Amino acid sequence: MSARYPLPAARHPIVARFLADGAAVDEAIGRFGSPLHVVFPQVLAENAAALTAVLRSHGVPHEVFYAHKVNASTALLAEAYVAGLGADVASSAELDRALAAGFSPGRIEATGPKSPAFIGRIAALGITTNADDLWELDRLAAAVPAGSTVPVLLRLSGFSSPVVPQSRFGIDLADADTALEAVRRAPGLELRGVAFHLDTADPAARVDALTESMAVVAAAYRKGLRPSVIDIGGGFRQRFVDDPEPFQRYAQALAVAGPGELVWPGHDVGAPAAHKYGNHRPTTEVLEGFLTAEIERRPVAEVLRECMLTLWIEPGKALADHAGVTLATVLYRKRAAGRDLAVLDLSRNQVTPADQEVLVDPVLVDPVLVDGRGDPTDDGVFLAGRLCLESDLISRRKVFLGSEPASGDVLAFVNTAAYQMDLSASAAAGHPPPPKVAAVLDGDRFVFTADASDDRHGS
Ligand SMILES: Cc1ncc(COP(=O)(O)O)c(C=O)c1O
Repeated sequence: MSARYPLPAARHPIVARFLADGAAVDEAIGRFGSPLHVVFPQVLAENAAALTAVLRSHGVPHEVFYAHKVNASTALLAEAYVAGLGADVASSAELDRALAAGFSPGRIEATGPKSPAFIGRIAALGITTNADDLWELDRLAAAVPAGSTVPVLLRLSGFSSPVVPQSRFGIDLADADTALEAVRRAPGLELRGVAFHLDTADPAARVDALTESMAVVAAAYRKGLRPSVIDIGGGFRQRFVDDPEPFQRYAQALAVAGPGELVWPGHDVGAPAAHKYGNHRPTTEVLEGFLTAEIERRPVAEVLRECMLTLWIEPGKALADHAGVTLATVLYRKRAAGRDLAVLDLSRNQVTPADQEVLVDPVLVDPVLVDGRGDPTDDGVFLAGRLCLESDLISRRKVFLGSEPASGDVLAFVNTAAYQMDLSASAAAGHPPPPKVAAVLDGDRFVFTADASDDRHGS
């Protein structure tokens, strides 16, 4: 028997209930097919309420924008609307969906690099533009209809603090003065504030970026501009595990003994991301840590209140955390390359973010059947996809399911709503990305509604 390194995934109670309800899973697959992405809007609502409660408890004026790019689901977007959030859109297609979900232009913010056509729409609708570059400011200034104004946030980067990760996005701090001048001179632009986005859980990095951004706010004031918003973006962490110990054990085994039998030959699983799969701290703690961190011995929350700045955040993965699972069916089992393999009706890119290995185990659905099947398996199994690529392994890592999967069994990949469903999905070999369905727990049963999102045609 080889070493076992199970990586048990945390499950939200609603998700756990769904996966334990064989009839509900059967109904979802029976009606919508396999593979299938299932989203849970109620979980997003809960995440939104938790983040908002932290901001409220510190008395910080704030707005929370749901970063729609995390998942194309219209059900999750609609839930964000109902929860009173704004929408952060990164393309014309996302803008269309946000407007269709009911967000008024005043509750929408456009982020990321923008095409001239997207800029034209933003300008016409007066949507707050989180400007990635001086070029965008020029294009926007030229596109604003005469007599109207468009609110602008300057997305900053190039911070001098060594703890702030470098970024390819945003306007370098060295060009901040030029950007302020560009806004000041353009009659159609109104400086609403400054912004940054860091993909890190490190509160020190956010505090340093905030401090350097506040200097740009001060410079804006000196020019007669009146920014009122500081937008710290997203980057708040998800919580994939309840207990970080199995992940640490696994990462250590890889570091000490190498991939050995744990990784499919010729592949690697990259550097195991401890901040991601080793994290068991809720994101509310990260936000709390930021608001209570100190700038010149005063808590960030107090500094923001005193400077009368409204804090904007743009969480994607923190809002979508645990708000989705992906179901796939085992087609058949085989031995290949001396290893045990289960071939699924899914492709790696339809459940994996940007080809990063997912370091939590899927769940074998229908425990009744599993329990009836005798001893738990000890050796684990690799999961293969259905494309004609050697690299189309759903899991390059041996996963441990607790029992032998057989043809026809359903596997649930847990916590896939954030970037795992759409970021890399392709329709290669004519396999369309799995459809999405929203599951709402109504009393003691799940009600399913087809999700209107369809990213197959791009945006
Ligand atoms: C500008 C901006 N805001 C917010 C987000 C959402 O980030 P996260 O999902 O890490 O919260 C992103 C992600 O790429 C982003 O680029």
